[in-house]
Amino acid sequence: MNRFEMRERLENKLTKKRFEHSLGVEYVSGCLAMVHGADVNKALTAGLLHDCAKCLPADEKIARCQKHGLPISQVEFANPELLHAKLGAYYAREKYGVDDEDIRSAIEFHTTGRPAMSLLEKIVFVADYIEPNRKPLPEIDEIRNEAFSDIDASVAHILKNTLTYLDSGSCGDTDEMSVRTYKYYTSLNSED
Ligand SMILES: [Fe+2]
Ligand SMILES: [Fe+2]
Repeated sequence: MNRFEMRERLENKLTKKRFEHSLGVEYVSGCLAMVHGADVNKALTAGLLHDCAKCLPADEKIARCQKHGLPISQVEFANPELLHAKLGAYYAREKYGVDDEDIRSAIEFHTTGRPAMSLLEKIVFVADYIEPNRKPLPEIDEIRNEAFSDIDASVAHILKNTLTYLDSGSCGDTDEMSVRTYKYYTSLNSED
């Protein structure tokens, strides 16, 4: 399936707003790939599809992960929104014909990140946060600048803001992987 066909399918699966966000992440992922020397086409595809499973109801997310044998952690059970990442990686292959492992892992880890991410994983993680359709977030100008000049710093910065927001929010379900990713990228940035 080419990206044109992917966009057509995706538009039917997402809300208007989520579809616009996906186009924003597609383009920004492509730009970041150009700057950082990653495969531009892979970045565009991963960015476009990263939220392809986002607009399912929470109980559907759980049911479909169970149906397809995708493991669900306790935190994910309590906060099924997190599941759209691994379910999205699964649908990228099954529904959009994406065979590429790099693309699928960039989709799978776009929400929490993980320690020692690949360049493509970092690109989609960062593009998801900085794309232009996002409503203004704290320190966004600085994070956008870092995204193009020092991508590891922008990963750490995004997680710091996300974890602050999660901790002060009502849900209290800080994903352990986000914390591990944050610690990893903070220690990287403090080494020099
Ligand atoms: Fe997402
Ligand atoms: Fe997203």
